[in-house]
Amino acid sequence: MNTIWSDNIQNIGTLYHSRTLRFSDTYKEAFQNAFCIGKNAGILEIGCGPGALTQSLARWYPDAAITGIDRDSAFIQFAAQKAPQLKFMEADAAALPFADNSIDVTISNTVQEHIEPSKFFGEQFRVLKPGGICLVLSARRGIQNTAGCIAEENSFEQEIWSRIEQLDCNMTEKYAVGQYAMSESALPTVMERYGFRQVSTEYIVANLTPDNPQNSKELAHCMINAHRQTALDAVNAIPYTAPGVVSDVELKQLRTRINEKYDQRIALYNEGIKQWDTSISLTMVLRGVK
Ligand SMILES: C[S@@+](CC[C@H](N)C(=O)[O-])C[C@H]1O[C@@H](n2cnc3c(N)ncnc32)[C@H](O)[C@@H]1O
Repeated sequence: MNTIWSDNIQNIGTLYHSRTLRFSDTYKEAFQNAFCIGKNAGILEIGCGPGALTQSLARWYPDAAITGIDRDSAFIQFAAQKAPQLKFMEADAAALPFADNSIDVTISNTVQEHIEPSKFFGEQFRVLKPGGICLVLSARRGIQNTAGCIAEENSFEQEIWSRIEQLDCNMTEKYAVGQYAMSESALPTVMERYGFRQVSTEYIVANLTPDNPQNSKELAHCMINAHRQTALDAVNAIPYTAPGVVSDVELKQLRTRINEKYDQRIALYNEGIKQWDTSISLTMVLRGVK
């Protein structure tokens, strides 16, 4: 049972909710144009996490045969429960359990930066059929602007977070997260180096601004609550990342405080008092052909 990522780095809720919004049907056409793949391709998603992109792919390509793999057992269990009609399995991207020349399309989102490039690209090149397509999605610098009622930390919150900051509990360093991150120009060069041709890039913007009038109330609430989940997940991770530093009572108080702030944000939205907080994500789509 490997739950290193879901326990220490990003929890299920954080990934699932943020990706569900980033890969919502609003952006279907933009992603389909960038992917440029056949309707009934065999698609392998590498490092699928809790499976939000996998589910979007299944909606966008209903005739495709889609499999998601990830090393984290909790993500795979969650993904399989959420979408039992899809195939998910635990596997290592550095040693894919698939035959040479057997897959039409490989796709991944925010995974390349964590895996040694000769393994990441080499394994996908090996399993892809000649003419098969490799799609590497990565998050580029976006814009984050938090509503005042959420950004404001009281002295209790400040004290808890400063207690944690003083510890050397940087999971990003411990687990070499993002060790192989590359710039927008280096990434296509490296893809070519590993044998891919017709390499191209596309960039897709997702504007997640709850107060925009084109968003339904339900969608606006989803946007606010995705951030609530990320904040709660950060608290839920404390016992793993900084064991014994924050008591159970304090953790409970911290969760209550977070929920109060997000409830207030929702109330402001419902009353039509605009905050214009926003999360703009920029996804790079790198595409190469074997
Ligand atoms: C930033 S998360 C992205 C997850 C998912 N693609 C998403 O966007 O929600 C990175 C994912 O890569 C997975 N991962 C990292 N190294 C891996 C490897 N060698 N084999 C399989 N999965 C791996 C992690 O378990 C994690 O789910």
